[in-house]
Amino acid sequence: MSHIMEIFMENNFKQNIEDLFNHKFNMSSSRLIMDQIVPEDLDSIFEIFGDEKVTEFTDFTTRESKEHAKKIVDYFIKCYHDKEQYRFAIREIDSKKLVGTLGLFSVSEINRMAEIGFELNQSYWRKGYMTEALSLFVNFYFYTLKGHRIEAVVTPGNDSSCVVLQKIGFVKEGVFRERDFFKNAFWDGIVFGILEKDLLKE
Ligand SMILES: CC(C)(COP(=O)(O)OP(=O)(O)OC[C@H]1O[C@@H](n2cnc3c(N)ncnc32)[C@H](O)[C@@H]1OP(=O)(O)O)[C@@H](O)C(=O)NCCC(=O)NCCS
Repeated sequence: MSHIMEIFMENNFKQNIEDLFNHKFNMSSSRLIMDQIVPEDLDSIFEIFGDEKVTEFTDFTTRESKEHAKKIVDYFIKCYHDKEQYRFAIREIDSKKLVGTLGLFSVSEINRMAEIGFELNQSYWRKGYMTEALSLFVNFYFYTLKGHRIEAVVTPGNDSSCVVLQKIGFVKEGVFRERDFFKNAFWDGIVFGILEKDLLKE
């Protein structure tokens, strides 16, 4: 496992995204550590994606079995290799348990922009964990990767996600009508964005 400072030395978003996919590393806050998802995370992934309260507003269908959940683990791991999406594991430092994930995808190198998505095991809600994980990630994205903008698209009704994002400094920018098709229907998307300069304002 490489140290973060040894990997991301460039003032170059494109190169840093390339390096993100090419290295194993971790970053930590007071209670959490964020690193890569591994096959041994299957039980924890099943706890998260097998819970219909967690998947309710997302494009993930609720996993009914561990075999079904394994497809998610395999997909996240394949995404590292294909450089399609970077899924961080969010683990408790003390227990090492995977309690959530945070994905970085739809990267636009020219615009230094990307989209994120996240979910947390319901047993760990309301402890400030996602606020802590997002804050760690957002600082990493702007100060280390040198990104310019992050977007998050939230399905109407998903109030907790809206609050968490706004707590971090994301701004509600608008509602895109019937933006996404999943679970056999078109869903509006509430678009939240945060810019590097929004972070500097704090
Ligand atoms: C959204 C989610 C990640 C929030 O995680 P969390 O760790 O519980 O959030 P935090 O504890 O950091 O909460 C931050 C603030 O959001 C608000 N909030 C969080 N969950 C809430 C809820 N269920 N109801 C009302 N407000 C809520 C609170 O104001 C909270 O601050 P407070 O506890 O100090 O009052 C979690 O609810 C989840 O996994 N939801 C399902 C997955 C999902 O919809 N993902 C989004 C895809 S874009």
